[in-house]
Amino acid sequence: MGLIDYRERIPNNVGLSDDRRLQRALESWQPKFLSWWGEMGPALPTRDVYLRTAVSVQRDGWADFGHVALPEYRWGIFLSERAGDRTIGFGRHKGEPVWQQVPGEHRAELQRLIVVQGDTEPASVEQQRHLGATAPSLYDLRNLFQVNVEEGRHLWAMVYLLHAYFGRDGREEAESLLLRNSGSEDAPRILGAFNEPTPDWLAFFMFTYFTDRDGKYQLGTLKESAFDPLARTCDFMLKEEAHHMMVGTTGIDRVVARTAELMREHDTDDIAPYGGIPLGVVQRYLNFHYSVSLDLFGSETSTNVANYFTNGLKGRWQEQRRKDDHVLTEDHVAVDAVVDGHIAAVDSAALVALNHDLRGEYTADCRGGVTRWNRILADHGADAVLTLPHHGFNRSVGAFAAHHVAPDGTLLSAAAWEARRAAWLPSDEDMAFVASLMRPVYEPGRIASWVAPPRQGINGHPFAYEYVHLA
Ligand SMILES: [Fe+2]
Ligand SMILES: [Fe+2]
Repeated sequence: MGLIDYRERIPNNVGLSDDRRLQRALESWQPKFLSWWGEMGPALPTRDVYLRTAVSVQRDGWADFGHVALPEYRWGIFLSERAGDRTIGFGRHKGEPVWQQVPGEHRAELQRLIVVQGDTEPASVEQQRHLGATAPSLYDLRNLFQVNVEEGRHLWAMVYLLHAYFGRDGREEAESLLLRNSGSEDAPRILGAFNEPTPDWLAFFMFTYFTDRDGKYQLGTLKESAFDPLARTCDFMLKEEAHHMMVGTTGIDRVVARTAELMREHDTDDIAPYGGIPLGVVQRYLNFHYSVSLDLFGSETSTNVANYFTNGLKGRWQEQRRKDDHVLTEDHVAVDAVVDGHIAAVDSAALVALNHDLRGEYTADCRGGVTRWNRILADHGADAVLTLPHHGFNRSVGAFAAHHVAPDGTLLSAAAWEARRAAWLPSDEDMAFVASLMRPVYEPGRIASWVAPPRQGINGHPFAYEYVHLA
């Protein structure tokens, strides 16, 4: 356990060679994955990229760094180590041993949870396929590819579970994960945000901050699962996810820093002529990515999610740290809803409001980002601030989907809302302007005009390191 076997065709720490049937099944899926990667993965031709590859699942030193040709990246199956006597932490099976097999009664639901999670992983690779053509630096290009190969590995993680525990249905679902495509008319990805384009690097940083962060919270609930292989898989995925969060957080930091720098230098908010992204554009991108990411949390109240919890399939964020009975049958919470034309708090059983609970944790985390960016603005002497829009703004799912809410939380008529759309969400003009700044900078140590260089490079290397060799 822990060590990963790289002599195998599929690197793994699950003893794959002891299960010939499973090994053969996954080996027949592997070439399909590689042809999907070739068609839908990074479009920019490269010779090699400075990447980390998982070599163990130990807490420290689980990754190795080196220049790797992208198609030769060693995607594999890595689960966190089994805690010998883990028991179920919540719901009606609380205190019982965790499951090593899928209980028949929960098979369909568990498979669905895994498929939905699995579908997001290749989707983001597809969404980011063309970004290599316009990277602001080699450092950023490397980070993009690191995120891409790890999302590819997350797909492997889910496909392993489908093949190993869900029989023929699972194998069929694993095939379908490569057949749906982001933005496709005929066979789109399952969740809305994963069919939105990621056309430029500001969108990429916003995506890795807001949408990957949704992924972090979803994985956090699955890591609590009574189905132990799923819990251990998600636990290790969360370690990789930390880098994706870093790319988003520091990416937006660097955009904001550059914007503030240009505002001070030229004593104006209108920094577009100087090759920077005006703060208003940053705010509109933020509004868009935050609101579509909130939709990923589903409806505020859901009996399905209550059942997932009660049956032990999916817990809460940091379940162990919650100071309640972890069963919640008696508990109530206040949930926002629109009542008689006003936003009001409505009493709800805690069990059916678990999406609302998770969304609340996520929003608190996102506020941390906004605080951080406002500190950067203040440090540069700018008066302006960024804000997180109200959770009812621009929603397509849940209690606010049928309403028109301004970023400040005011309820509006459809017409009044539409009239302000261009002030709140990226307009065609905004997108065209950002696109006009997207020119590749591929010389080591150089960077595009619209973003500040990072404070640190990767794995102790300087910013000017040759992180990528182009083909
Ligand atoms: Fe992922
Ligand atoms: Fe991610």
